[in-house]
Amino acid sequence: MKSAEAISSNEKILTPLRTLKELLRFVIPVGNKEMPIRIILAFIFLFLATLVSVYTPFLYGKAVDLVSQGKSVNINLLWVVIGSYALARLGQVFFDEAKEFVFARVAQKAVRGAAVQAFKHMHSLSLTFHLNRQTGGLTRAIDRGAKGIEFLLRFTAFEIVPVLVELITVGIVLWITFGFMYAAVTVSTVLIYIFYTIKVTEWRIAIRRKMNVADENASTKAIDSLLNYETVKYFNAETVEANRYDLAMKQYEDSAVKARASLSIVNIGQGGIIAFGLFVIMGMAGEDIANGKMSIGDFVVVNTFLLQLYLPLNFLGFVYREIRQSLLDMGRMFALVDQKPDILDKKEAKILKVEGGRIEFKNVKFSFGKRLILKGVNFIVEPGQKVAIVGPTGAGKSTISKLIFRFYDPSSGDILIDNQSLRDVTQSSLRSNIGVVPQDTVMFNDTIGYNISYGKPGTSINEINKVAKLSSIDKFIQNLDMGYDTMVGERGLKLSGGEKQRIAIARALLKNPKIFIFDEATSALDTKTEKLIEKSLKKLANKNTTLVIAHRLSTIIDSDKIIVLSDGMVAEEGTHSYLLKSKGLYAEMWMRQQEGIN
Ligand SMILES: Nc1ncnc2c1ncn2[C@@H]1O[C@H](COP(=O)(O)OP(=O)(O)O)[C@@H](O)[C@H]1O
Ligand SMILES: [Mg+2]
Repeated sequence: MKSAEAISSNEKILTPLRTLKELLRFVIPVGNKEMPIRIILAFIFLFLATLVSVYTPFLYGKAVDLVSQGKSVNINLLWVVIGSYALARLGQVFFDEAKEFVFARVAQKAVRGAAVQAFKHMHSLSLTFHLNRQTGGLTRAIDRGAKGIEFLLRFTAFEIVPVLVELITVGIVLWITFGFMYAAVTVSTVLIYIFYTIKVTEWRIAIRRKMNVADENASTKAIDSLLNYETVKYFNAETVEANRYDLAMKQYEDSAVKARASLSIVNIGQGGIIAFGLFVIMGMAGEDIANGKMSIGDFVVVNTFLLQLYLPLNFLGFVYREIRQSLLDMGRMFALVDQKPDILDKKEAKILKVEGGRIEFKNVKFSFGKRLILKGVNFIVEPGQKVAIVGPTGAGKSTISKLIFRFYDPSSGDILIDNQSLRDVTQSSLRSNIGVVPQDTVMFNDTIGYNISYGKPGTSINEINKVAKLSSIDKFIQNLDMGYDTMVGERGLKLSGGEKQRIAIARALLKNPKIFIFDEATSALDTKTEKLIEKSLKKLANKNTTLVIAHRLSTIIDSDKIIVLSDGMVAEEGTHSYLLKSKGLYAEMWMRQQEGIN
């Protein structure tokens, strides 16, 4: 058996090049004039900051030369030089921040644009896609992708590019002022530093990845274990759980120690390269001073340049690693957006026109993967009829309701509503005409009122009251301290199954569609409440076509037609009394349930 991790690991990730191309669309949205201006301004500020920072060491050197004159120094000149030095330092910070300020909007707009596009796209993908993915994984992909954009933009634009620009400028300035050798030693020290850091970081990435996997593994284990709190208690499995968690934490401990050790190797190597560079530069400068070719101020200047260049490189390993990660994260997010939905509206798709709400299944076949679930299903629900579908669990009843809602398309055959094939109409027009109360209802982690009025925001309290009454949930709500403002908990966990079902019925009623589908919608209710709801539904149902998938046969006796589904085929159909008389599968099921009740 494959583990869940192995199954999900064959996901798609875009190449770095395509990722950057996708990213560009969000950095400079088509037709947007503000962003290009901001980008140009940011580069102007970057250029100014570089100029100032290259000039600063010279002011420093000048100050050192003046100071070393001792008593004979021109005090006024000294003040001017020191003042300029202070101003230059301020200028560096100022231009740096100005650049960040104008660019922040560009980066954040790109983050928002890409994240919202990905989010919208998630909702356009099919149910199959979502059933095969962990929801947490999807939000994490969007989250990380968005963070990746921010990181990549900020760090390439403001760490990598400036360092390179400064390196080149400093190289030229050193060459002109002190000769080729000074430029060569400084630039090659920095280049060796960069090369070394990238190489070692590559090696460290694998180690760190192991650490992150171990970390994620441990936290998944902990979350899963706590989510299953009750199950753990039922099986006295606290020790087993603790041991499993400890094992995961042990793996994290080991890989974290390894990761830290490898960081030391990076730091020692970097320190060594810089120390050697300084050694050579200072030696050269010392010789030149001894030979009278250089002043003490110059000695300070060449040192400062190397140190100034090397300072931002301190984070190079981190930046390089994060940029690589950002590209991966973004590639993953854009690959998700690249996924084509299985169910797409045709180009020429029409708006579904519902008159009576007649539903027709024409030889519908459907399979999940290789498993054939529906093997040629035919039936008709006439306008305004109440039709029940019954059959053993796993027969494909819920699948039928999902096909009508077009969560899936049939593999062959056709489904028609008022003689229009579902394939030829827009999904939104189809879905606005159908109210579904699904077998398992999940609630939003919000109030009861929010959950009932979901899909119809701004509903009046009168309307909400009305549907609450129709679904027999009104008394329950009245008895709550907070009434409609009661929070239902994550996925509605604070409500019982029956309460959730009644809220789901209420919100479907509020939608007031032409076609209702109840998929074992009252299975968790007691017979008395079920009867009450049934009565209110009957009043409504005359105008609507209603498809009821039922487990308890007693609730569907009065249906215009009962379809008995067995093994993916319609085994029998007819009214309750007809089916009883024909003594087939239905009659058998009926007998069994009667015995069970009596
Ligand atoms: N998303 C899915 N992927 C694979 N198999 C599925 C999926 N959904 C349902 N099935 C399978 O299809 C069969 C019919 O399911 P369903 O229509 O839910 O049955 P029921 O008649 O009990 O409502 C079941 O055997 C079920 O295991
Ligand atoms: Mg079902």
